[in-house]
Amino acid sequence: MTLLFATGNGGKLREVAALLEDKGVKVLGINDLEDSIEVIEDGDTFVANAKKKARTLFEATGYAVLADDSGLCVDALGGAPGVHSARYAGEAKSDEANMERLLRELSGKEGKERSAYFLCSMVFISKRGIEVDAAGRLDGEIALSRRGDKVFGYDPIFIPEGSRRTLAEYSLEEKNKISHRKRALSAILPLILPHLN
Ligand code: IMP
Repeated sequence: MTLLFATGNGGKLREVAALLEDKGVKVLGINDLEDSIEVIEDGDTFVANAKKKARTLFEATGYAVLADDSGLCVDALGGAPGVHSARYAGEAKSDEANMERLLRELSGKEGKERSAYFLCSMVFISKRGIEVDAAGRLDGEIALSRRGDKVFGYDPIFIPEGSRRTLAEYSLEEKNKISHRKRALSAILPLILPHLN
């Protein structure tokens, strides 16, 4: 059984492969495909984007497909940056510029006014075309300034609930245990297992 995971990110691919390969599933990433397939993520929600990715890849390849979409939502900003997380400060997709914009927009806000969460939606389509989805969430708050050097996205300014450290001060193993992606994966796993043959 082969599953195509809609990512070109090696770290995400390894995380999913580790969970599925002991169940006899071979996990491929989009870089394993001969042709590159572009999907424009223009949905209003994470689940809409993940569905679009999953359906496009399923139709193009016929493989069973898993796709995700994720981002950061800040309560005081009405859920922004949300689906625009990667390009919050412009097309350049700069983590530094995105964090700077967010910190500027939250200046003067304290405590609960800085509450935020990461959300990840996952969508699976079986070889026979059966579709299921699930989500995972990590609650926390936006730090007053950036801390930590493992820079991915907004990690240096996100403090998980109950912690004093930013996610950029967590080891990768520690982060992978609590992340929104891990939670979405754990939620979708029992839903996809019956459809993996
Ligand atoms: P994607 O779903 O991996 O494309 O993520 C979209 C954007 O959300 C990324 O470019 C990051 O800015 C942000 N993001 C998603 N997950 C994380 C995370 O675990 N840490 C920090 N930023 C994240």
